[in-house]
Amino acid sequence: MAKPTTNFVDEVIKRRRTEKVLAIGNSPPQLKEAEIKQFDELVFQAVDVAGWAPFHYDRKKDGLAEPWRFTIFKAHRCREIAKHFFDWFTDIKPNNKLPKMLNACGALVLITWLPETEIDNPKIGQVNEEHLAAAAAATQNLLLALESRELGTYWSSGGQLGSPEFFQRFDMNPAGRLIAAIFVRYPGLLDHNDINVISGKNREKRSQWQNWTQVID
Ligand SMILES: Cc1cc2nc3c(=O)[nH]c(=O)nc-3n(C[C@H](O)[C@H](O)[C@H](O)COP(=O)(O)O)c2cc1C
Repeated sequence: MAKPTTNFVDEVIKRRRTEKVLAIGNSPPQLKEAEIKQFDELVFQAVDVAGWAPFHYDRKKDGLAEPWRFTIFKAHRCREIAKHFFDWFTDIKPNNKLPKMLNACGALVLITWLPETEIDNPKIGQVNEEHLAAAAAATQNLLLALESRELGTYWSSGGQLGSPEFFQRFDMNPAGRLIAAIFVRYPGLLDHNDINVISGKNREKRSQWQNWTQVID
């Protein structure tokens, strides 16, 4: 566990880095079942924290103000999805990484946002942009809340996990648009030889803040 510094938030933001965890071979690596409950509890805590993101407009949908929706798939459910992936989605390449990640993760969190649909509303474009922005803020909150609990993450666009067929299969709101598929690393895999961990693209391309910031004095 990293030592808390005087500015723990800065430290967690900079420490977070993408960890794409892929299962090697066909049988998923074993998790320590006794610890999975504790792991799930950490994920629930992090989702609770993520919901403290700012949002501008009351979405007024299903009695909820928030424009985002989270769907948590526990580890055993991810394994089930991995098992059926190539049956459910037949037009995908055999080297698609999603089943490998579903076979290795501790949990998958899908984050969607709910667009406004009244096209006669002149502000609809701006409102939807801000709904999406709020959902992105909640997503980054989740990454940081998980990182602060020593749980690695990967933000993927989600591919087939964002398809209408997938939403229907898991009773997700068909009006939702997927903004993030967050794979949460399970830290206690029994045999680490069963997994491959890959860093994120673009990681090393970051520049100094002065390069993308204009200061108006
Ligand atoms: C909205 C969004 C969608 C992304 N989707 C993907 C994706 O589908 N595949 C991928 O390899 N990286 C994707 N990324 C990028 C990685 O999540 C990661 O942030 C990036 O590779 C930089 O690595 P870092 O997080 O270690 O800095 C996405 C990032 C964002 C913000």
